[in-house]
Amino acid sequence: MIVSLYSTKGGCGKSTLAVCLAAYWSQSRKTVLLDADPQASLSLCREEVLHVPVLQDTSKGIGKTIAKLAAEYERVVVDTAGYRRRKNTEALVHSDFVLIPCKPSPFDVREALEAVEVLRDIAGSKERKGAPLRYAIVLTMAQRTAVSARFREELEASGAPFMSAQIGQRVAFVETPTAGFPPEGSVAALEVELLAREIKRRLKA
Ligand SMILES: Nc1ncnc2c1ncn2[C@@H]1O[C@H](COP(=O)(O)OP(=O)(O)OP(=O)(O)O)[C@@H](O)[C@H]1O
Ligand SMILES: [Mg+2]
Repeated sequence: MIVSLYSTKGGCGKSTLAVCLAAYWSQSRKTVLLDADPQASLSLCREEVLHVPVLQDTSKGIGKTIAKLAAEYERVVVDTAGYRRRKNTEALVHSDFVLIPCKPSPFDVREALEAVEVLRDIAGSKERKGAPLRYAIVLTMAQRTAVSARFREELEASGAPFMSAQIGQRVAFVETPTAGFPPEGSVAALEVELLAREIKRRLKA
């Protein structure tokens, strides 16, 4: 199963969620995290606490890299760069599920909806050879405020695929790349678990 994190909005939480999902899956599945962003944010990750190999993609053809990894690992999590580039498109073409993180802000919502358009085109492209491509927006860095609730409603009403699971604004997520997956039973751990389960459910649907 290949899950990519995508949005052309910088700083919306792609890398953080990629790390969290990979660390969560690594508890029960053979998992690898592929950094497709030349910014190489994931080089800060401490593999020994995440229990996930973190690879930097420097290849010309990321599609081949992903296919090779998918033959070896049960879960491949791909973090993409927060701007338009060919490598992103290639990574998306080779994904089973694409998660689009979106902060509760008008700028993020606009970019997330644009990302949905990009994915709709890719899903219907010849390159997919009829294979289904699932994707959905996830509200992240949400707070218990009226503003967060309003953006959630707006995204739900947009008609774009939208995850029920949401990720809160939490220090635990800032610390995950260097401290490891949040402690069992914590709200942060539960949020990631619910997100991961929903991805699986949507892939089966
Ligand atoms: N759920 C969260 N709660 C609190 N802080 C968060 C959360 N998710 C991300 N952050 C913080 O927000 C900032 C941006 O997150 P991140 O680097 O994951 O975004 P990105 O989309 O990968 O950015 P870029 O487009 O630059 O690659 C980081 O400082 C990160 O620690
Ligand atoms: Mg990033």
